[in-house]
Amino acid sequence: MRIDIITIFPEMFDGPFNHSMIKRSQAKGLAEIHIHNLRDYSDNKHRKVDDYPFGGGAGMVMMIQPIADCIDKLKSERNYDEVIFMTPDGSLFDQPMANKLSMATNLIIMCGHYKGIDERLRENYFTSEISIGNYVLTGGELAAAVVTDAVIRLLPGVLSDETSALSDSFQDNLLSPPVYTRPSEYNGWIVPDVLMSGNEKEIKKWQYEKAVERTRIRRPDML
Ligand code: ADE
Repeated sequence: MRIDIITIFPEMFDGPFNHSMIKRSQAKGLAEIHIHNLRDYSDNKHRKVDDYPFGGGAGMVMMIQPIADCIDKLKSERNYDEVIFMTPDGSLFDQPMANKLSMATNLIIMCGHYKGIDERLRENYFTSEISIGNYVLTGGELAAAVVTDAVIRLLPGVLSDETSALSDSFQDNLLSPPVYTRPSEYNGWIVPDVLMSGNEKEIKKWQYEKAVERTRIRRPDML
């Protein structure tokens, strides 16, 4: 899978994508992430990417030209399954959306900024608009990193134990059951006996019951 991210802050992606699993997925050739500095596509001599809004109002608006040129160039090089715009008024990102995007071969993710982008881009360029939650971030960069992480970890071979993505919270509409590791006793706090019993069937039953109980208490909307 290839993901092209368009941003005015390319450095913001140095951290999230150069560690752990996302780094490994790139090293293994399972994912390719390309970061494009939007200012490189501006035909303005000051590399301007925004302008005042027609009709007045606070804040600047991202202009069509640099974004359109960047997307057009990428599209001339390969086919994209989705051209996504990160925005707080997009569809709320969830696990089914991550699952669907993980089937794609090529994705473009555009990070929004300022008060917004020229509406004509939204009407003509993007195939979907995604929000990662009902709050406003300073820009779409962190949101794009969240979506990229959630999608890439689902690619076969990225997680060392493939079943671990399948058993995530949300994949089966249940939260995960509690987990424990050594020592079996700490500060008088003990691990549930059943997990120490070696009885595979009883352990699976206990884990399922705890997952259902946890979901009922914390997220009854998921049941
Ligand atoms: N840009 C600013 N806030 C955002 C959000 N919540 N989701 C996606 N993009 C954003």
